[in-house]
Amino acid sequence: MGSRSRILLYFACAAIFLVVGITLRLPQLLEDPVAQTTGEVAIGGEFELVDPKGNTITNKDMLGTYSLIYFGYTFCPDVCPTGLQTMATALELIPMRKSNKVVSYFFTVDPERDTPEIMGEYVKHFHESLVGLSGTKEQTDKAAKAYKVYYKKVVEEGKPADEYLMDHSAFQYLMGPDGKYVTHFPHGITPEEMAEKLKAYIR
Ligand code: NI
Repeated sequence: MGSRSRILLYFACAAIFLVVGITLRLPQLLEDPVAQTTGEVAIGGEFELVDPKGNTITNKDMLGTYSLIYFGYTFCPDVCPTGLQTMATALELIPMRKSNKVVSYFFTVDPERDTPEIMGEYVKHFHESLVGLSGTKEQTDKAAKAYKVYYKKVVEEGKPADEYLMDHSAFQYLMGPDGKYVTHFPHGITPEEMAEKLKAYIR
């Protein structure tokens, strides 16, 4: 074998190792994309919103307890109710000494329709600890940006202007008592899987 083909062989092997390495790590990368690349995760940050009683809630009010955070909207036909029900059931499945350390929040991405009153009525259907947060368009944008949440208004042709849908990310975040990101749960996780993870993360 000539030295040129040895070099080629070497590069071919290196390429194979690289591809295999990335493929093996892929499930891990997909599960926790941000954590894998940076270690310290830039999810969470300053926001100011309003709860159903009209109290201003900021990121500082979340300190001292674990927070489960979900962004969505009350007119959501299926994704949000499923996500919130999963969250609520998971909280019922973990020991109370752990669930007592968690406050869950539903941030609306549809402040045009989701007033604090509507949010208050809506969250009651899921869990007593669930707090609905609403605000102006600017406040909503700021909160969504802090949590790296995507959302977009989708107006269907031929439908009344107020019957639009909102496209939105459907992750649930777990933040620690120090306000820092702990982990996130994908849409479609079962309440049992979520409860197992919560039990492990909440101390
Ligand atoms: Ni939704």
